[in-house]
Amino acid sequence: MATRVIPLVDQRSRSHTVPRSARPVPLVAGGSLVDTRGRPLRDLRISVTDRCNFRCSYCMPKEVFDKNHQYLPHSSLLTFEEITRLAKLFVGHGVQKLRLTGGEPLLRKGVESLIAQLSALRTSEGQPLDITLTTNGSLLARKAKALKDAGLRRVTVSLDGLDDAIFRRMNDVDFPVADVLAGIDAAQAAGLGPIKVNMVVKRGTNEQQILPMARHFRGTGITLRFIEYMDVGATNGWRMDEVMPSAEVVKTLQSAFQLVPLEPTTLGETAERWGYVGTDGQHDPSLGEIGVISSVTHAFCGSCNRARLSTEGSIYLCLFASRGYDLRTLLRDGASDEEIYEAIAAIWQGRADRYSELRASSSEQARGPRVEMSYIGG
Ligand code: GTP
Ligand code: 5AD
Ligand code: SF4
Ligand code: SF4
Repeated sequence: MATRVIPLVDQRSRSHTVPRSARPVPLVAGGSLVDTRGRPLRDLRISVTDRCNFRCSYCMPKEVFDKNHQYLPHSSLLTFEEITRLAKLFVGHGVQKLRLTGGEPLLRKGVESLIAQLSALRTSEGQPLDITLTTNGSLLARKAKALKDAGLRRVTVSLDGLDDAIFRRMNDVDFPVADVLAGIDAAQAAGLGPIKVNMVVKRGTNEQQILPMARHFRGTGITLRFIEYMDVGATNGWRMDEVMPSAEVVKTLQSAFQLVPLEPTTLGETAERWGYVGTDGQHDPSLGEIGVISSVTHAFCGSCNRARLSTEGSIYLCLFASRGYDLRTLLRDGASDEEIYEAIAAIWQGRADRYSELRASSSEQARGPRVEMSYIGG
C-alpha cells in the first residue's frame, strides 16, 4: 500500500486571478446566479482546518501527512469573522446550506462560536440556513451538546466499518469504532439529526462491512450512505480496481434486504436513495433508508450546486480543481461587500467544471495536480 502513495505537490498557494463581474448582478437578494452550465449556487462547504487526527489512506495517507508535513500557519486561516462575512455574501447569492468540513472541523478551536455566528444568518426569504458539519466523530461525544446549543442543525459522521480491526486500520491511527459510535449516540441525544453516516467503500479493504453497517443502522433513524472511493487529491494512489461501483453495493444489500428506490429530496442531491421495505411491500419510514454516492460510475456534475471555501479563503469550484480563487486577499486588502459580492458572481458565472463527467478523458488526466480534499473539504 505504502509504495503507491504519491508525494504531495503543494497546490495551496497557486490561485486564479479573481475576475471582475462579467455580467451585472443585482446587489440585493440573489438566487438567480447561474454558471456557464445553468447551475445555481446553493451549497457552500467551508473547510475550517487542514488538520485531522485520523490518517485515512484515501484522504491523508500517513506517508505524506507525516510529522514533517507543513500545515497552514494560524495567520493563514480565515478568522470566524472573515468566514461569516463571506458566508453572508454567498447566502445573498442563493446559498441555503452551509457545511463545515476540514480536515476534522472539530479540531478548530472555538468552532462553536463560528456556528453561533453562522446560525444568525438568514436567506433573502428570511429562512435560517441548513447548517451541518462533516466529522470523523472522534470528538463528538464531548462536543455534541455545545454544537447543538450553538445552532448546528445536524451532523454527518464518517465511519468505514463496524469491525474494530478494519476500522482501526482504515483510520490508520488505531482509533476504535466504539468511540465513534458513542459520538453518534451523543449527537442523536443532542438532537443533531437527521444524522447521516458516510462509509467510503474500498474494494479489498472494507466491502465485507456493507451488510453489518446496514444491519446496525437500519431502523435507527440514521441514514447510511455508501460512497465510491474517488480519485480526489493527488496522494492516495487511487486505482479503479479498488472502486466498488454503487450498483454492486446495492446488489449486496438486496441479498439481505428488500429495497425500493426513493425520489430525490432536493435538486443536486449527491446520493441516490433506497428505502427499506416493510411487511406491506412498501417503503417503511420507520426502517429508514440508505444512499449511494456514485461520483465515479454515475457522475452528478449536471446538477452540482456546490462551492468550496478553503481553510485559507480560496474558492474552489470543483472537488477536483487544481486552483482556487483567492478571496482572502480581497478581504484583507479592504474590499467592500459590494466588491466581494461581485467577485463571487463573476467567479460562479465563469464556472464550467464537471470533472467526474470527464474523468476518463485524456485532457483531464493530463491536467495539473489536484488540491487535497483535506484542504478544501469533502
Ligand atoms: P447532505 O445535505 O447531508 O445530503 O450532504 P451531501 O451529500 O451534499 O454532502 P456530504 O458531504 O455528506 O457528501 C458525501 C460525500 O459525497 C462526500 O464526502 C464526497 O465523497 C461526495 N461528494 C460530495 N459532494 C461532492 C461533489 O460535489 N462532487 C463529488 N464528486 N463528490 C462529492
Ligand atoms: N473518496 C471518497 N470519499 C472521500 N472522502 C475523503 N476522501 C475520499 C475519497 N478518496 C470523504 C468521505 C469522508 C469525508 C470526510 O470525505 O466521505 O467521510
Ligand atoms: Fe480525516 Fe475525514 Fe480525511 Fe479521514 S477522511 S483523514 S477523518 S478528513
Ligand atoms: Fe461538482 Fe466537480 Fe463533483 Fe462534478 S466533480 S459534482 S463539478 S464538485
